[in-house]
Amino acid sequence: MLTLGVNIDHTATIRQARRTVEPDPIAAAVLAELAGADGITVHLREDRRHIQDRDVGLLRQTVRTHLNLEMAPTAEMVAIALEVKPDYVTLVPERREEVTTEGGLNLLADRDRYAQIVDRLQSEGIPVSWFIDSDRAQIEAAAQTQAQFIELHTGKYADAEGEISRAQELKILAEGCEIALSLGLRVNAGHGLTYWNVYPVGCIPGMEELNIGHTIVSRAVLVGMERAVREMKLAMRGEL
Ligand code: PXP
Repeated sequence: MLTLGVNIDHTATIRQARRTVEPDPIAAAVLAELAGADGITVHLREDRRHIQDRDVGLLRQTVRTHLNLEMAPTAEMVAIALEVKPDYVTLVPERREEVTTEGGLNLLADRDRYAQIVDRLQSEGIPVSWFIDSDRAQIEAAAQTQAQFIELHTGKYADAEGEISRAQELKILAEGCEIALSLGLRVNAGHGLTYWNVYPVGCIPGMEELNIGHTIVSRAVLVGMERAVREMKLAMRGEL
């Protein structure tokens, strides 16, 4: 069955805009789970621009579904993962100057080190997922590291303009999924998925989990706006 991992990073982005305590991503995770989220995903970035170490520790104690920790394949992050013990780790490329994760990891670049990281985490019972583009060489390299999962980067599909190029990108994702499954990998996908483009990706046979963040937090801000304003009017009258 297709599952949804809700990425709550951007609730923390709003909090960090003021370096205050609201909205608390822990509360967002609880509400997401009450609404049916199958998992909670957070990206602990090297620059700590949104999710903080405190959030990851508290989420480990409070998440009742599963916690997917996205992180760069660095010594610092591996040490944190070994301590926090998320239900699985998704390894992503990270550049400080990027607005968001802009492409999949290049697993061909540093194969031995990547295989060692997988071994270190999986031998402690933390399954690893590689965030990669839907490319045969990358998928084969992921399988060679013995990782249990890959997450296919859906950014090109999401950015495709026009029906033809969107259909082409969808086909590339479906082919990648098929290759990965044939190599014994489990397959997730994510990045740039929205209420308007998600359905065809979820229909790819064998697709397991979609990790979705920005569009959900964006909608939450809008669907909550009327109630939030009404409640402020009550608060101003001392009636809340
Ligand atoms: N999956 C991975 C590996 C990501 O890095 C991100 C972005 O943090 C997502 C999924 C979620 O992407 P979006 O916020 O565009 O839904």
